[in-house]
Amino acid sequence: MPEFKWPPFEPYKTKVVEKIPITTPSQRRAAAERAKYNLFKLLAREVTIDLLTDSGTAAMSDMQWSRIMVGDESYAGAESFVRFQDTVRNITGMQHVLPTHQGRAAENLLFSTLVKPGDIVPNNTHFDTTQANILVRHGVPLNLPCPESQDIASADLFKGNIDLSGLEKALKENRDHIPLVIMTVTNNSVGGQPVSMANLRQTSELCKRYNVPFFLDCARYAENCWFIKHREKGYTNKTIEQIAHEMFGLADGALMSAKKDAFVNIGGFLAMRDHDVNTRVAEIMVVVEGFITYGGLAGRDLEAIAQGLREGLDEDTMTARIGQVARLGRRLEELGIPHIKPAGGHGIYLDVKGILPRIPQKHFPGQALAVELYLEGGVRGVEIGSVMFAEPDSATGSTKYPELELVRLAIPRRVYSDNHMEYVAQTCAKVMARADGVRGMRFTYEPPRLKHFLAHFDWV
Ligand code: F0G
Repeated sequence: MPEFKWPPFEPYKTKVVEKIPITTPSQRRAAAERAKYNLFKLLAREVTIDLLTDSGTAAMSDMQWSRIMVGDESYAGAESFVRFQDTVRNITGMQHVLPTHQGRAAENLLFSTLVKPGDIVPNNTHFDTTQANILVRHGVPLNLPCPESQDIASADLFKGNIDLSGLEKALKENRDHIPLVIMTVTNNSVGGQPVSMANLRQTSELCKRYNVPFFLDCARYAENCWFIKHREKGYTNKTIEQIAHEMFGLADGALMSAKKDAFVNIGGFLAMRDHDVNTRVAEIMVVVEGFITYGGLAGRDLEAIAQGLREGLDEDTMTARIGQVARLGRRLEELGIPHIKPAGGHGIYLDVKGILPRIPQKHFPGQALAVELYLEGGVRGVEIGSVMFAEPDSATGSTKYPELELVRLAIPRRVYSDNHMEYVAQTCAKVMARADGVRGMRFTYEPPRLKHFLAHFDWV
């Protein structure tokens, strides 16, 4: 990580504060038991430091709040939509812009339009809702992470990249059954790792050669652009905005959960260049989301997103954001706590196999670690491992476990201080110090898909 330039601190100060719940160990034990050891079922007031997600949890700026007041709530053609559309067009260069109430609504609209049963959709790595939205269309989500991403310790700077040879093979063999290729920037499921512009360019060229549309899942595109600026040759003197223009310029369309890099609590969009596909999406959209100029959002939400998108392009803001995550990574390193390196853009991903080596994957060590972090210090992270990704192997009938067993500590934007992060690091250290006494977990209720949201657990 290069030395950060001036200013060496967050380029904002606090205007409003929110009290943090402080709980006792016995209150946390009771809460975890009541929640059936599923941290999604805890009440927010039972959580001290909430690192469940960086999605929809950002602190909005005074400028965003001020835009809330000028939201135009007209059903159709609101001024707020025009401003939102202009902003998205400016950043992406894509003419057609449909607001959606969040990222997965955009996924649903796009895949309902493009994905037929049996179709294959390659991605560097699908986020879980992206994967689920393809599966419900009876499509086949194909994850093609680069090999470096599977090596926790690899210091490669672009571990979010797609495996280009895997992609070319898929395109060669199944061209007629691949309705689109997606690239997730940054790559959430492998540790919030960035994708290089070179990898994006080569992916774009492959898609052109095989005449397949190329879409970005751009929830964290501004973080990805920041990484390109600081890590890829030739980008040091470009602005985040210039890099974003180049990145979107390589794609035919983009889906965004604005709840990440646009610093809002709700919202998203689907943008594209193709007029006909946009028309077909709009036909579905008016049935399930809302009219094409609000898409399930209020006018004020569109204003807050437009302002937040502009703030995401501010380099100092991004430096402070990614710098905080990197500092937590360095602190964990000092304390000897294994995690994916380099630190990701939006969070730290703890290496559960390194922290709880004695618990086999069938006993969900990631879930056990996440629950222990909560019991120890009221810190809520999320399991990204066997609960989320283990699946039956149709060939053998046995269960296929993911290579990486992780607990993600996602850092909300502009919310916590470095003191909070120090407390998180110490909580991790305390759990690691008593790792030998930590038990595994089992399902007491196992839902059919997106299990992590709804499952119930108990200790083995
Ligand atoms: N794509 C990516 C890369 C995501 O990380 C998410 C959500 C989505 C799509 C779906 O967007 O939540 O607005 O419907 N990620 C959140 C997370 C939930 O915690 O990582 P959504």
